[in-house]
Amino acid sequence: MSDSGWKLVYEGFDPAQEGVREALCTLGNGYFATRGAAEETEADGVHYPGTYLTCGYNRRVTELAGRRIENEDLVNLPNWLPLSFRAQGGEWLNLSRMEVLSYTQELDIRLGLLQRRMRVRDELGRETSVTSRRLVHMRHQNLAAIEMTLTAENWSGAVEVRSAINGRVINAGVERYRQLSSNHLAPLEVCDLGEDAMLLVAETNQSHIRIAEAGRTRVFRDGSPVEVARESAHEKGRATHTLACPIGRGQSLTVEKIVALYTSRDRAISEPTEAAVQAVVMAEDFAGLLASHALAWKALWDRGDIVVERHPRTQVLLRLHIFHLLQTVSPNTVDLDAGVPARGLHGEAYRGHIFWDELFILPYLDAHFPSISRALLLYRYRRLPEARRLAREAGHEGAMFPWQSGSSGREESQVLHLNPRSGRWTPDNSNRQRHVSAAIALNVWRHWQATGDRTFLDRHGAEMLIEIARFWASVATWDEPLGRYGIAGVMGPDEFHDAYPWRDEPGLDNNAYTNVMAAWVLRRAAEVLDLVQPERRRELERMLEIGDDERARWDEISRRLHVPFLDNGIIAQFDGYDELAELDWDAYREKYGDIQRLDRILEAEGDSVNRYKASKQADVLMLFYLFSSDELRELLGSLSYDFSPEVIPATVDYYLARTSHGSTLSRVVHSWVLARRNRARSWQLLHDALESDVSDIQGGTTAEGIHLGAMAGTVDLVQRAQTGLELRDGVLWLTPCLPNELQGLRLKILHHGSWLHLHVGCEEITVSAPYGWAGFERIGVRDQLHQFRAGETLSFGCERAEDGWRPKKEEPRRTSDAENDAVGDLR
Ligand code: BGC
Repeated sequence: MSDSGWKLVYEGFDPAQEGVREALCTLGNGYFATRGAAEETEADGVHYPGTYLTCGYNRRVTELAGRRIENEDLVNLPNWLPLSFRAQGGEWLNLSRMEVLSYTQELDIRLGLLQRRMRVRDELGRETSVTSRRLVHMRHQNLAAIEMTLTAENWSGAVEVRSAINGRVINAGVERYRQLSSNHLAPLEVCDLGEDAMLLVAETNQSHIRIAEAGRTRVFRDGSPVEVARESAHEKGRATHTLACPIGRGQSLTVEKIVALYTSRDRAISEPTEAAVQAVVMAEDFAGLLASHALAWKALWDRGDIVVERHPRTQVLLRLHIFHLLQTVSPNTVDLDAGVPARGLHGEAYRGHIFWDELFILPYLDAHFPSISRALLLYRYRRLPEARRLAREAGHEGAMFPWQSGSSGREESQVLHLNPRSGRWTPDNSNRQRHVSAAIALNVWRHWQATGDRTFLDRHGAEMLIEIARFWASVATWDEPLGRYGIAGVMGPDEFHDAYPWRDEPGLDNNAYTNVMAAWVLRRAAEVLDLVQPERRRELERMLEIGDDERARWDEISRRLHVPFLDNGIIAQFDGYDELAELDWDAYREKYGDIQRLDRILEAEGDSVNRYKASKQADVLMLFYLFSSDELRELLGSLSYDFSPEVIPATVDYYLARTSHGSTLSRVVHSWVLARRNRARSWQLLHDALESDVSDIQGGTTAEGIHLGAMAGTVDLVQRAQTGLELRDGVLWLTPCLPNELQGLRLKILHHGSWLHLHVGCEEITVSAPYGWAGFERIGVRDQLHQFRAGETLSFGCERAEDGWRPKKEEPRRTSDAENDAVGDLR
């Protein structure tokens, strides 16, 4: 694989790598996405064409290990890709059977275009060059298109082209789920549409989402339409057109397939079939669609790009990560009821469910596309009644959001989990990760801080914060011997620990991360009532029946929650952590090599990871990731703990040495917490996090879907941790700490509706807000405060520090802004 700032390029066809390529070459528009599977293929063990609709879920029931299990899946929709050809009497294009003379696959990240170029030779020695280009339209969210150009290099005769829409698909993208029911689609209709198009209609068999896909296939020679002999061979659940026409030696033909995909969830339509038919008839040709598609992407890059100077590999990976985020959620998502699935719309891992990963995703969106983050928060808001129901059912008050969320916001986590190493189904207790609700509260708060959107806070945000705070107040119980409140029976972000080795029932007590977050939420809920408009405050107090007693209780608990510590002053992951055994990490590394999924290794050995001081991912360290040391000292101080930031380095080292990074999120967090103290190590972890998917460092998981939390997390790491961008105490702070490997960054950040332009280089740092500034009037650089206002560029000289560059302590140079194009949020 090579790259050049905007391109992922793969040379050669490698069946073993095909799944990863398909996931990484997925094209989407925040409404639907399709994996980068070759057009001529079907699901066959090497290829897995998958198309997924945002929030397009369906439920099925399976009898498994003696239990009745209902699983909700993000449905694999009818495959619109099939497009293939053959030379007269030969076999259909098939890379596994034909001689492949050359093969290149290229993802153009700037344009959102997937291209393949190949030369193949069939069994009769006929050589054909093939170029295909594909897009999923970023503006016309219901349209997608393929253009395939064939050149008969050394032959002439008839060529046949086969174009199809295949509704006979199931969810079979993840090996581990094969025992679960996976048949989600009922075929309804297949027919011709006029001269050159076909239609397929299907419906999900439980959620009753109706899907209509219409496809138009035309052939051109030198830009003019070609007369073809067309045959329809439709079957139940599959529409097929076969087109035949002559081709001369050395001649080229271009086949265009334009597809419209509508569902009964769409707005501004009567019903999906009519809408798809009309759209496919009206659609422009490929060139026209590509032009408008590229314009839509340009608008996104103008707002969302981060330019990395002189480090092409980091540049292309960051852009790839932004690209996949914006293909999963985009301005098209803003009007939908959509959350952000942990694995994108790129595969079937985790069945398209929505976890706490938003915590890693929203900061980038808040800073570039706040209307998208608002839409994702509204996905949660609409599920507040269900979160209230979940809390009630568990015997609590307020709102308890599910660990895994899907269509309705009920808990979608599985109850049994298959360990592929041992083949055993074991209980899955991951739904005890109550901290997901705190993450939602933090996302609400950060959105408000980044946007100053009072309407959102008044109408939606405050209610969510209050209900989540209520939940924490109701799960906290007074522990007399401790003289503090505690929270029992939970799991922290580290999924390796779900129970004590000495206790039968699952759950841990006083997970430090959970308790500190709960204290934080309780304080914010009290504050938010003072922030909303006075009438809204009265309404909320009446509607939610919030009295003085309750507020006093929030205050009391927020100051008296228990946080466990080890003897050396390090925050303990949970009560009793100290009693766990140390693992012989070297021995396990030597025996197994890759020990990221130590939980599975130990279970297969008949042991349990619960017995050891071994974490899958950052848990305590999440606190240093989310809060600055000052914020944390203040927060722990309010809980009457004397927390000194001096213990932070020892805490980081302690847990880093005991973490397997079994989640891709882990490296992002560790890189962040080391950014200031050990730039070299931090860079290494960022580098590994950047490579997570593109190099499939988990050995097989990327093919099942990208890791969107880690992708967005790396971008946010560069955006905030490397620049040291922080809004605190009425000041915009900039404390850049670029590692030696990064020579410079250029980006724009939206704050309270104004764009802040930032260039962090080795020799100079410049900051400006050329088109207005509604944020703080002071900027802090290396502990010194300077006035900051719109229309001026402030330039700070830099000097070499131990392991990187830093701004000099001097007065900035001030010039007036001229250049730069102004852009607003897209919605
Ligand atoms: C991680 C979770 C994460 C989930 C979805 C798991 O492996 O442990 O923290 O939310 O993947 O990305």
